[in-house]
Amino acid sequence: MELNGHPQDKNQEMEKAWSDSRELRGVGLPLKRYNFPKDLRRLGGDFTVEENQKRLLRFFSFERNMLRSLAGWSMGTPEFEVKVEFGRHIYWHAEAGMKIRTRLTELRMPEEATDKFHSPDITEFFNELIYSETSAHFVAGLYGVVLPAIKQAYTEHSAHTDQVADAPTVRMIRHILADYDEMIAWGKGAIEAYIQGGYEEAGLHKWQYHLEKLLRSFGSVTGTLLKGPRPQSLRSEGKPPFERSFIATRDPRFGTFEHTYEYQVADNDAASTGGKDAAHHAKVYESDFDKTRLNLVRTQRDEMDAIETFGNVLYEIRDVPFGFDYDLSRIIWDETRHTELGHKAMEALGYDPYDLLNRLLGIKVRTKMPALYSFAEINLFGEANIVQECLRYAREAYDKGDDLTGRMFDYVNADERTHLAKGVHWLKHVFGTDSVQEIEQKTKKVAVDRLLELGIINHDVALTISHRELAKIIGE
Ligand SMILES: [Fe+2]
Ligand SMILES: [Fe+2]
Repeated sequence: MELNGHPQDKNQEMEKAWSDSRELRGVGLPLKRYNFPKDLRRLGGDFTVEENQKRLLRFFSFERNMLRSLAGWSMGTPEFEVKVEFGRHIYWHAEAGMKIRTRLTELRMPEEATDKFHSPDITEFFNELIYSETSAHFVAGLYGVVLPAIKQAYTEHSAHTDQVADAPTVRMIRHILADYDEMIAWGKGAIEAYIQGGYEEAGLHKWQYHLEKLLRSFGSVTGTLLKGPRPQSLRSEGKPPFERSFIATRDPRFGTFEHTYEYQVADNDAASTGGKDAAHHAKVYESDFDKTRLNLVRTQRDEMDAIETFGNVLYEIRDVPFGFDYDLSRIIWDETRHTELGHKAMEALGYDPYDLLNRLLGIKVRTKMPALYSFAEINLFGEANIVQECLRYAREAYDKGDDLTGRMFDYVNADERTHLAKGVHWLKHVFGTDSVQEIEQKTKKVAVDRLLELGIINHDVALTISHRELAKIIGE
């Protein structure tokens, strides 16, 4: 065996040719013939690493406050299209926040410090924004004032930082801004829709002007712009922290019910009242499969209440790592997709989605449970139950040749599996225990008390109710 050099390089010829070989120069035409694209980036930027940290921390804080404000408005926003869009954008902000937080770790800022970062001016600003008078005012403030201000701050930051040394930040901002253009465009359309629908334009503009003034008073997003005068008074002044709505608001296109969890019971009750809409509530099913299918499709559309439940949890549970916000935000987006899938499947099956009554029992039970119990209920009872139901149904639908809804529930099952894993991880964290059994027992007690309080079950049922029955009543 040769110990020195290449076995075929007997006289070390290859070694000698190394510094002036044709292979080393390349075997094509000489380089002077080409005009490759030039790298025009200039070296040098406005920020030291510390200055960059300070600004990115504020950006992170804006993203986190935005997603939590959206979560806080989920229950109180009746308009279906808006509730759904909030569910999507919560995750857009969580992703942006996570990217910024990761970039901060590369700029000598540990995650724990980022997660604990608070700035009094940003906190005050979001306290004011969240005290918006209506969902229309909230949309006008968030999409018409905050998002454009952040877009401007991000654009300027990426233009002023060192294009080479801080290239990861520049690239990150470019990706985040793609979502901003989409969100700002949606917001514009939504504000116009609110105005056309009857909201007074001047009132919305006044609120926007007020928020703009407050933002300018502390130097805007970065805190470094020229400071203007403060507004004379704030809506949130002297008030306790904003409480999210305890009612799951629905716009008037929906008919709702909350006295039972069974769609057939609700339909028949509505049909027997004999009102002008009674006729379309009475349903005839061609087969058991048809009935199962419509029931399951309806549970998906009615997961509007899952968007709301996880929104409430995200709004109310504080002092947690940002990983909590991130995972909850993703679950909220998934539940948003489940709602959309249900809505579209209703149309595909030939129904007008608004003719199918919306079930509110689950959210009515959960809305007054402390956040960690409503989290445990929806996850350990609701999602653990639906994950199996979806799989069972998907197999049956594939068998029956219904690929459309079969595939839909195949994907929902895949989503729900991830919710169980993420949910259990964070439940252990917020309950401070590794025992899922212990969390389940405590939660069951709180849920049963709530069902008794609402008169949904009596004391005899309360004593013997099983995990499965409870899951069925409250659902996901
Ligand atoms: Fe779901
Ligand atoms: Fe879920």
